[in-house]
Amino acid sequence: MDREAFQERFGLIGESVALKQVIDKIIQVADTDITVLLQGESGVGKDITAKAIHAVSHRKHENMVIVNCGAIPEGIIESELFGHEKGAFTGAHEAREGYFEKANGGTIFLDEIGDTPANVQVKLLRVLESGEYFRVGSSKLRTTDVRVVAATNKDLWQLVQDETFREDLYYRLDTVKVKLPPLRERPDDIIPIFRKFVTEFSSKYDSVFKGFSDDAKELLISYRWPGNVRELRNVAEQLVVLEKSQFIDTEKLQKYLKGRQHTGSADNLPILADKQQHTSNGSAGDGDQQLIYRALVELRNDIGDLKKMLGTFLYSTFSQKNLKALPQNIQDEVQHSDISEFDIDVGATSEENIGVQPFAEADISEEENSEEEAFSQFFSAEDIPSIEKTEQFLIEQALQKYDGNRRKASEALGISERTLYRKLDQYDLQ
Ligand SMILES: Nc1ncnc2c1ncn2[C@@H]1O[C@H](COP(=O)(O)OP(=O)(O)OP(=O)(O)O)[C@@H](O)[C@H]1O
Ligand SMILES: [Mg+2]
Repeated sequence: MDREAFQERFGLIGESVALKQVIDKIIQVADTDITVLLQGESGVGKDITAKAIHAVSHRKHENMVIVNCGAIPEGIIESELFGHEKGAFTGAHEAREGYFEKANGGTIFLDEIGDTPANVQVKLLRVLESGEYFRVGSSKLRTTDVRVVAATNKDLWQLVQDETFREDLYYRLDTVKVKLPPLRERPDDIIPIFRKFVTEFSSKYDSVFKGFSDDAKELLISYRWPGNVRELRNVAEQLVVLEKSQFIDTEKLQKYLKGRQHTGSADNLPILADKQQHTSNGSAGDGDQQLIYRALVELRNDIGDLKKMLGTFLYSTFSQKNLKALPQNIQDEVQHSDISEFDIDVGATSEENIGVQPFAEADISEEENSEEEAFSQFFSAEDIPSIEKTEQFLIEQALQKYDGNRRKASEALGISERTLYRKLDQYDLQ
């Protein structure tokens, strides 16, 4: 299959040299059984690529099992992956096959592989090397024939240095590494991908997109896209829906580039060339200054994002009355954290929706009263609560709100279920 046909078939849009190289590599290895490690920031297209690899391989008529290694609680990940026998642990009423068994003959996609707990990494290594594994509670050696595609947005080698990821597993996974570059490193792809999304959403919402001013188009290309293609997709959707039949100028576009709207900020600087601008006397050249400037602005933006996340959470969890019980500086952050109904309802796609609902100011229900009591038991208005204390409180509130449902609570808190379990343990919460 040639590159164009592959891109067309899987909707992998892009004209940059970087993307073309990635696709050529994928086509080369797709129809083999070789392990592929996809590495790249969130939203660059790891999922879509993994599915494409399976779909063009000779295993395409067999199962593709997708496992998010970061989302499965540590206590059950082994039995999820390898299955278990009846009675292997409390609650194991039936024997169950694991994902490696289900994927037999097909492909297993191990997403967020860097988050696999240490005790499972050694078992993964075995199954990757020899296809052998044991169900939990069984001493019978089983075998499976799977093709492995793994993905991570972390630097696995760094995890090896930090001793949280096994070196032998790293080498086993690293046979073919495909690095999916972030969108800001392939600006030539931005407009073609944007065009595709606009066409898609215009037909979905029966809307007309009028186009951009030259400045706005330039901003679209020079913006950093920290959320990569996923963020570009969201922006396209919002423009189609909310700026229906409007010509898009810079001012309009900036509203959708959240938290990074300052013209002239480092986010809108052109992509840095490599640092060859070092001056001969060793002092910092323009390139270094730009690098430092960008780093500073990134830091500021990250802090802004953190504040916004906290603000959104507090906003969604407490009634306005309860918010008033917060220390004034926190109230200010929440009120000024740029949270609008628009962000809440339209800005987030279902994958990213963190369950925020705009609150009604009217009645203070019983539930809110009990929230308030819980709140004042925890904090007094004068205190600045410690981060641990606040975290513990938020976890308790989220669990109460979702009747102890840990999946929903962890989603609302924006952390993985595993992290939630760890924190419950850490704070001794049941
Ligand atoms: N080159 C591309 N052309 C068109 N759409 C793309 C492209 N790359 C990614 N997408 C789309 O962008 C969105 C995010 O992609 P995907 O889910 O594959 O990212 P990811 O790298 O797996 O992200 P995460 O690390 O958050 O899981 C999806 O809607 C996907 O279809
Ligand atoms: Mg993904």
